[in-house]
Amino acid sequence: MYLRVSLTDRCNLRCVYCLPEEARFASSRASFAELSRLTTLIASQAGVGKIRLTGGEPTLCDDLVEHARHARSLVGTVGMTTNGVLLQPLLPALKQAGLNRLNISLDALDAEGFRRISRRDGLAKVIASIRAAQRLGFTPLKVNAVAMQDTAYAELVRFAAWEGVHLRFIELMAIGEARPFQAAEYVAAETMRARIAASGIALSECLERDEPTSRIWTIDGHPPAACSVGFITTMSQPFCATCNRLRLSSQGRLFTCLMDNAGIDLLTPLRSADEQEVRGLIARAVAGKRPPARFVRDESMAAIGG
Ligand code: 5AD
Ligand code: SF4
Repeated sequence: MYLRVSLTDRCNLRCVYCLPEEARFASSRASFAELSRLTTLIASQAGVGKIRLTGGEPTLCDDLVEHARHARSLVGTVGMTTNGVLLQPLLPALKQAGLNRLNISLDALDAEGFRRISRRDGLAKVIASIRAAQRLGFTPLKVNAVAMQDTAYAELVRFAAWEGVHLRFIELMAIGEARPFQAAEYVAAETMRARIAASGIALSECLERDEPTSRIWTIDGHPPAACSVGFITTMSQPFCATCNRLRLSSQGRLFTCLMDNAGIDLLTPLRSADEQEVRGLIARAVAGKRPPARFVRDESMAAIGG
């Protein structure tokens, strides 16, 4: 199993497809001791081989480095998904704590486009973080872009080739703030590839994949280890049947599917010192993991960590 732990639902950006400008965040969250204990229990009970730290924005969590260290004590592969704005100064400590996979979100390469999508400034800091992560040897470094109608597909691919990063376009999902405009803004992976080809960039499909969720393409003469383009085809080719993901929220709730709004409260039994109950709940949740009935989620991605 693959566990994603959301360290906080707060975020320093307000991406239009994720959060409203006047976003309201949870008033309480599990403490470091509680969240790390739940992580340990899920890892052992569900046979977790890989952990990813998410948010909201995980760099807003004061215990981020400690969480990375703790996660690495449980599994060999620990990743983080971040918007990159506050990342650069944290990178050396994260590397030292054992973080070994990094995904940085970047939807636009011009300051105006970045501000339009995230409703905040920060492009220069994100790019500085990408370069610093590269220098520190976070490889393969991934850059995630949520695909919409105005996305600069070809420019992002050229950026990936130039910087030597692995670009992943994510199909827009009807989650949170994106629900009213998902249908209008949605671009399928096949259309993205056509747009990239129309700009004169040749992509060739690789046989190997890094995850079951993304097909990977190499860029015009660049070796696959140096840079690549992938497409997270959640909408056009759903991968629910092979999904092995579990999500733990910063409130200590376990979700077995991204489209599940409720989750299972593990914090209350943990607080009543009933670890057997927590283990039982985890075992039952994992045994009952099923694809969703509907591909829509009311709550924002920030609450559950993408
Ligand atoms: N559709 C697709 N991806 C989304 N994310 C947030 N909201 C959506 C959505 N509606 C992505 C972010 C980031 C990760 C945390 O989730 O871009 O990469
Ligand atoms: Fe923050 Fe990520 Fe949501 Fe953007 S997509 S508002 S960076 S949590």
